[in-house]
Amino acid sequence: MFGVTWNLTTMTGIVSVIPTHITLRSELNELEQLNIAKADRWAFSRRRNVLDDSFLRGLHRRMYDEVWKWAGIYRKASRNIGVEAHLIETGLHQAVADARYWVEKQTFGPDELALRFAHRIVQIHPFPNGNGRWSRLVGDLLVVQHGGQRFTWGRMNLQSSGDTRKAYIAALRAADEHDINPLISFARS
Ligand SMILES: Nc1ncnc2c1ncn2[C@@H]1O[C@H](COP(=O)(O)OP(=O)(O)O)[C@@H](O)[C@H]1O
Ligand SMILES: [Mg+2]
Repeated sequence: MFGVTWNLTTMTGIVSVIPTHITLRSELNELEQLNIAKADRWAFSRRRNVLDDSFLRGLHRRMYDEVWKWAGIYRKASRNIGVEAHLIETGLHQAVADARYWVEKQTFGPDELALRFAHRIVQIHPFPNGNGRWSRLVGDLLVVQHGGQRFTWGRMNLQSSGDTRKAYIAALRAADEHDINPLISFARS
């Protein structure tokens, strides 16, 4: 299963997928979901140091390592979302430092802390793919660590297009413009 690498054509171009028996996009989605579920259980199994660059990168790796060669590897090319590739490491480092400061100074309650940080990291967009799901798991870990409940994130699969995804993207765009409130409402809807 982990031997030869196949190339799969997606909307973002040719990317490397690890399992060799995949023929359908639906099979790939299912493998991704299993991989993510495993990482989710691991991440919540004990207290993790979420506000840490190498934890964040390792979490992405664990979420996608059975499916994608790019698991846990920062992108090297520019994208229409996200900072320039050479600014990813410093951007994440700064986001982590800011969030640690917010924790120390109790600047925000658990929801706002977690969602501001989740937005910051998805806006940096460190990885070639999987950034949205990774940032939402990070938000969930952070809010639970600070005494809150996991977010509901609209109670829908945000991978598929539809009104819920539209509301989610609109909330992220508002956060890009420094209004975090729509994302706070959305994440609890
Ligand atoms: N304007 C935006 N600002 C910040 N994040 C955004 C914006 N638009 C989209 N995103 C995030 O980017 C994600 C898509 O990136 P991608 O790497 O494909 O993640 P995934 O594969 O987990 O969906 C969206 O789910 C959303 O979380
Ligand atoms: Mg994607």
